[in-house]
Amino acid sequence: MSTENIFKQVFKVSRLTRSKKFDQQPLVIWFTGLSGSGKSTISDALEDMLIAKGFSTYNLDGDNTRLGLCKELGFSLEDRTENIRRIAEVANLMLDAGLIVLASFISPLKSQRDLVRGILGEKNFVEIYVSTPLKVCEKRDVKGLYKKARSGGIKEFTGVSSIYECPENPYITIDTTDLSVESIVNVIYSKIKTKLNAKL
Ligand code: ADX
Repeated sequence: MSTENIFKQVFKVSRLTRSKKFDQQPLVIWFTGLSGSGKSTISDALEDMLIAKGFSTYNLDGDNTRLGLCKELGFSLEDRTENIRRIAEVANLMLDAGLIVLASFISPLKSQRDLVRGILGEKNFVEIYVSTPLKVCEKRDVKGLYKKARSGGIKEFTGVSSIYECPENPYITIDTTDLSVESIVNVIYSKIKTKLNAKL
């Protein structure tokens, strides 16, 4: 669809105005990694910590947004790209609202994560690669999906029958195999806190 006849509206209240009200630098903290790698668990604990420290946040999660906003999308690489594009646009609106956004999506392709970076702008985006190996994710199999995928019950399952491209230069890499959630969240916070508190 063409945007030829669409004109961007500029409002008196801007991203900066809203961010100042929250006294924080808006940022998207993007978790990528296999299903079961620990993305949602970490983002949940990190958001809890950020709220306790007085930040204003929102948590976008693949399983939740696929129940509503993206419910007609499947798991072909094409549908995943549309899923990620849509979420990046939502995250961008949340940046405009002045929020710190945590986003947990497999986002398996480099091109999909580049798309997010392009929509949000490099300085508003931190990529965290949850690098827990497939073997560990599969052993955990919290949702029973790996078992289902191995027996042919789910097609195009990431790591089993669909590709996952590791990030080449993530801001943080975390393998959750042997680490406590608390220690992981502390490491992440220590690496992002200057970004969150940067002078507005
Ligand atoms: S993404 O690839 O488009 O980024 P997203 O993060 O939204 O995926 O959704 C992943 C979640 O959907 C997984 O955590 C898992 O619970 C569920 N799921 C269902 N089918 C698949 C599949 N074929 N591949 C991966 N995850 C799947």
